[in-house]
Order: sequence, then C-alpha cells, then structure tokens
Amino acid sequence: MNLWGGRFKEQTDELVFQFNASLPYDRRLYRQDIEGSLAHVAMLAKQGILTEEEKNAITEGLNGIRNDIASGALPIDETCEDIHSFVESTLIGRIGNAGKKLHTGRSRNDQVALDMRLYIRDEIRTVDAELKRLLETLLKVMEENTETYMPGFTHLQKAQPVTLAHHFGAYFEMFLRDRGRLNDILTRMNVCPLGAGALAGTTYPLDRFYTAGLLAFDAPTRNSMDSVSDRDYLIELLGALSIVMMHLSRLCEEIILWNSNEYRFVELSDTYSTGSSIMPQKKNPDIAELIRGKTGRVYGALTALLTTMKGLPLAYNKDMQEDKELSFDALDTVKNCLILFTGMIASLRFRKDVMRKSAMNGFTNATDAADYLVKKGVPFRDAHGIIGRLVLLCLERGISLDDLNLEDYQNVCPVFEEDIYDAIRLETCVEKRVTPGAPGPDVMKPVLDEYKKILGS
Ligand code: ARG
Repeated sequence: MNLWGGRFKEQTDELVFQFNASLPYDRRLYRQDIEGSLAHVAMLAKQGILTEEEKNAITEGLNGIRNDIASGALPIDETCEDIHSFVESTLIGRIGNAGKKLHTGRSRNDQVALDMRLYIRDEIRTVDAELKRLLETLLKVMEENTETYMPGFTHLQKAQPVTLAHHFGAYFEMFLRDRGRLNDILTRMNVCPLGAGALAGTTYPLDRFYTAGLLAFDAPTRNSMDSVSDRDYLIELLGALSIVMMHLSRLCEEIILWNSNEYRFVELSDTYSTGSSIMPQKKNPDIAELIRGKTGRVYGALTALLTTMKGLPLAYNKDMQEDKELSFDALDTVKNCLILFTGMIASLRFRKDVMRKSAMNGFTNATDAADYLVKKGVPFRDAHGIIGRLVLLCLERGISLDDLNLEDYQNVCPVFEEDIYDAIRLETCVEKRVTPGAPGPDVMKPVLDEYKKILGS
C-alpha cells in the first residue's frame, strides 16, 4: 500500500515499484522507525497538535506493531514501498483515524534521516564493543609474550629483533585509533534531524529540542535542508570501517605468512582452518584470507557512496536511498570479520622456538654490532661499513655474526674485544632497546599497564 496516490491516475508499473522499493533492506529499521514515531507523537501531543487520546491510541498501536514484528506475529509484507509506509499503513489499519495523524508535521525525508541516525548510532557502539574485545585479546597475547623474540621486518627482510608483544602492540595502537575514529563520528553525528520536514521545516509549532532530548541526541540539527540531505556521517563511517578492515587485513596477511610452511611462526587452530578437497595434507588459513578479501567490499561501499553523493543538488534525492544497502553491508561485514578475527587470534598457537631461531639468523643483530663499535669510539658511518664487511664474510662462510671468531673480528677492526659476543646476543639486542616505544620488556611493561587502564575505562 502506498502513502500517496491522490494525484495519480494510473497504477505504478510493477517493475517500477520493485526498483523504487527499499523495504527488502530498510525493514531492519523497524525499531528505529517506531522509536522515532513515538517521540514525534509525544511531542505533537505536548504541543497541542494531537489530543492525549490520539497520542495514546497511536502510542499503543505503535508499541503493538513493534512487539508483533519482533515476535513474528506481524510479517513485514513486501507490498509496501518502505518500512515507513509499512508501519504507518499497518497503524492506520489497526487503529483507524488517529493513525492518519501520525505523519503530521513530518516527511519521510526527515523520518528516514532520523531512523538511519538511530540505527547507525547503535551499530557504531556494537562495532566499538567488538573492537574492545579484540583489543583485550591482543593484550592477553602481549602480556604472555613480552619476552618472545622474533625478527622485526622492513621490506619483508629481517631487520632487527623485536618481541611478539611489541609486534602485536603496533596493531593494538591501530585498533585503538579505530575506536577513536568511531567515537569522533558518534560525537559529530549525534544531532536530531526530526522536524526538518521534507526540506524546509514546517509551520506547526514543533518542539525539536524536546524530540531530540527524548531520542538522546545532543541537539536538533540547525539547517533543515542539510538535515535531510547530509550523508557525511555515513561516508565518515565507511571510511573508518575501511580503515578497520585495512588493519584486519594487514594482520591477516601476516598470519597467513606466519602460518605458511616457510615461516611456521604460528599454527592456526583446527577450528579456524579448512581443508582441501584434493590435497589431504592441507590446512588452509581461509578465514584470514576471507577477512583480507572482504576488505575490498567495504572499500567498495565507501567509493560507491562517495560517488553517489558527489553530484546531488540540495536537498533530498532518491539516490540517497542507496546509502542503506552500502552501510548495512559494510557494517555486517565488519562486525562478522571482527568476531571471527578475535576468535582466530585467541586460538592461535605461537611457535616461540621457531620465531626465536628465525630472529637469531638473518643478521638481525648487525645494527647492534655497529652500535657496539660506536660505544667504543668508532664513528657510526665507519662502524656501518665495518659490520657490512663482516656480514659479507659471514655470508661467504654461511655463518652468523655470533659464530665469527674474535680473530676474524679483529682482522677487520682491532677495536673488537671478547665482549662483542654479549653485545650482539639476541636477549641483549631486545633488552637494551629501552627508548620509549621500543620492544625492551622494561619499557613495554608500563605500556601494557597503560593499555590495561585504557580498556578498563
Ligand atoms: N526509502 C527512502 C530512502 O531510503 C525513504 C525516503 C523517501 N522519501 C521520498 N521523498 N521518496 O531514502
């Protein structure tokens, strides 16, 4: 059933109806739609625009519809154009004339703008809670691994030794910033568009501050045209979600590498792996790969909505209906990915011995060997050259710096003494890195305490 039709002589073409309809996906907004209508009606009665009896009838009717949709007693049939039409026409069907007054001083344009803000506000909180769970999981791994040594990489080449706690700490910071971004968006978007009407407000004496308060917004929006045509907050959200996915995807990529036969740094739990239909030996990291893959889908939503919005004149245009499927799909994707990712990390087994062995070779202590010479008075640039020559020597012999004898060291530079071996031990290389932000366990532990405090709040 349509909410309009008075000025039409002919029925809508069936294909046009289907193409135009948003009910198949905006049906998930039914709670928000009813919540907004309840606030609107309470305000209309407070302002004397509706009588108390009308308000009570509508309120009761709307509550009944909400309960019946939730219980399944009222199926959302697809003969309506959108969820707003469905709720309103059902209300009129159930309570008669009073129901016809619900839409007084309101347009579907401010209504849908409100419904989406209410929905997105909750969803941001859900994503934030999932991010928090992920951070807690990361922190647990970090606390258990402040002295688990592994190679740190640049250019995917072994660079300097770090710890697993430090490596995960980098991701902790990323996901923490993701939470910050979501909360920034929440603060900026928390204004109420209800009462903006179709685009130019209304002549009824609406109390927009009252409805904004009832719906827990900080204030009503200030410009009615912007209220019905602003989709910035959704673009910001898709941007923030894209960054979340980028972060998930980077760690997935590392886990896929670390789980490979070549690295063997981690072993995925059987519960988070899949097999091959032909190769009996396979245990594949499909979940990590899928999360990495779904990143493209969320980026796609961001690009799509930016493109949809770029040429739209003020104020509402039907193009904006496209915001829903894109936002819903991106949110669903990110929520699922976060839940699965957290489970995958929690069940990951770290092969500390393999990581340690890997950190021991590949000359990850070459910088420390150069620093050793610097401490003995050799200028850094000269020290760099000397160690470079020693690395070359090791490569020729197929050994590491730890295996060179003192004579070899002294042949290249007489400054070397017996204490070089201690200076380039794996433990020394990590423990001595105590500048703030470095992997040394002594500086990492207070950082972990800080993280714990942040998550406690
Ligand atoms: N389904 C529409 C949307 O999502 C609701 C608003 C319709 N407004 C209108 N003037 N046709 O944007």
